[in-house]
Amino acid sequence: MRDYWYKRAVFYELYIRGFQDSNGDGMGDIPGMTSRLEYLKRLGIDCIWLLPMYPSPGHDDGYDIMDFKSINPEFGTLTDFQLFLDKAHMLGIRVIADLVLNHTSNTHPWFLEAKKGPSSPYHDYFVWSDNPDKYANVPIIFQKSETSNWAWCHECGKYYWHRFFTHQPDLNYDNPKVREEMLGIVRFWLDKGLDGFRMDAVPYLYEREGTLCEGLPETHEFLKTIRRLIDESYPDAVLIAEANQWPEDLRQYFGDGDELHMAFNFPLMPRLFMAIRQEHHGPVVDIIRRTPELPENCQWAMFLRNHDELTLAMCTDEERDYMFKEYAKDPQMKLYSGIRRRLYPLLEKDIGKVQLLNAVLFTIPGSPVIYYGDEIGMGDNIYMGDRDGVRTPMHWDDNRNAGFSSCNPSKLYAPVITDPDFSYTSANVQVEELIPSSILNWMKRLIHLRRLFPSFSNGKLRFIFAENKKILSYFVEYDGERMLCVFNMASSSQPLNIDLSEFAGCRPVEVFGGAEFPPIGELPYQLALGPYGFYLFELCG
Ligand code: BGC
Repeated sequence: MRDYWYKRAVFYELYIRGFQDSNGDGMGDIPGMTSRLEYLKRLGIDCIWLLPMYPSPGHDDGYDIMDFKSINPEFGTLTDFQLFLDKAHMLGIRVIADLVLNHTSNTHPWFLEAKKGPSSPYHDYFVWSDNPDKYANVPIIFQKSETSNWAWCHECGKYYWHRFFTHQPDLNYDNPKVREEMLGIVRFWLDKGLDGFRMDAVPYLYEREGTLCEGLPETHEFLKTIRRLIDESYPDAVLIAEANQWPEDLRQYFGDGDELHMAFNFPLMPRLFMAIRQEHHGPVVDIIRRTPELPENCQWAMFLRNHDELTLAMCTDEERDYMFKEYAKDPQMKLYSGIRRRLYPLLEKDIGKVQLLNAVLFTIPGSPVIYYGDEIGMGDNIYMGDRDGVRTPMHWDDNRNAGFSSCNPSKLYAPVITDPDFSYTSANVQVEELIPSSILNWMKRLIHLRRLFPSFSNGKLRFIFAENKKILSYFVEYDGERMLCVFNMASSSQPLNIDLSEFAGCRPVEVFGGAEFPPIGELPYQLALGPYGFYLFELCG
């Protein structure tokens, strides 16, 4: 079987503005991030996913791009970027970046030209209409901020289409020139040595009347065209889909292994939070059973949190209400159809729950993605606008500005977290690296374990059911290696009697500590698990 690096990789989502400031302007930058690469090496991650680094007016934190082939001067220069990339590669870390195919900023020169009217060669780069009635059934993604997917352009006297903010006009993929431009952008960055892309908002590339304008056949066709370019010229690069869709629809972004290599598992994510709150394995088991198998060269990107709100788009109305009730008790915590909180505050700073959910994430076959700061248990700030409260500066130490910047604290792009419960004075890299039992050191061990046991990345999963529904248990197997994972989703200790007779004669070895458990026989195997306790066993012999 071929070894695909992205199936074994642990990804780290990095927000450049929030990672490390090198020039004291209060904002993270590329040289700053380069100076912190050794930290990421110690953490053990394999691939960095960079949030947009392109020039942008910053109305959607860089997802509103003015120039796809350049670097935001606030972050540095192309030379800084190349130095960063080279050093990351030297340390054995790959780097992918966001690729925003769907739209530009309304300050992009293409749009400024396009607005001049149909005589402009760029007019057709965007989607125009004389009236706002076309594609009437298409949902609005940023509800509350936007009231329509059409916006009026005074200059050319027409409406333009935008699936996201008004200032993000959608590109017109029916125009072959747009498709060529985007392929050129892909080549531009891969030629510099980038290892792939997180493909932002991929379902929305094409529009067709009478549809929801999501995941249309034409969209898949263009994604396959990008993949052909990758396979022909950059066979080691990876493409990861951001498609917030139900499992059956998401599956289509993999094609027959000839479209995107990976896709974020949006349906699973909220159900991990549901399962732990309901103290029941049901939500996780049900969604995984509904999730189609992937081609052998494909992989899920598994995540708990990211830079956006915890999206509940892949929930039923009932499930969404439940999630809001349990995880967004303060209305300030809600945003769009989700919850703008980081992992630690969501889980009430309960290290047991944090470890449990991460252990599930790292052992269900798929490649985990860690959101910067979550590995040290950073808090959030729900009083900041939009999604800014989960994008505050990284905590490096307990010095001024958490070691993030030497600037006057009032100059910081966002304040560091000082809430007593989550203060940077204790939740920071320096302190946690020194404490053996810190969440940071535990995450390092988890990352290391995942590497030791390829079943967690490549394995086939099979649930094992016991009477106790508070327990989630599954078996993953790869190339003769057999792993048994058992999780107590409850806040109380739980007994477990489980039929493991098919493994009779095996000795379970708990992989965190190496302890050998009693051999498995024909009778039900008995275990006791503490609150949110879990075991990861290798079945030996
Ligand atoms: C990104 C968001 C962004 C949106 C529009 C996404 O899905 O994750 O942060 O606002 O695309 O580009």
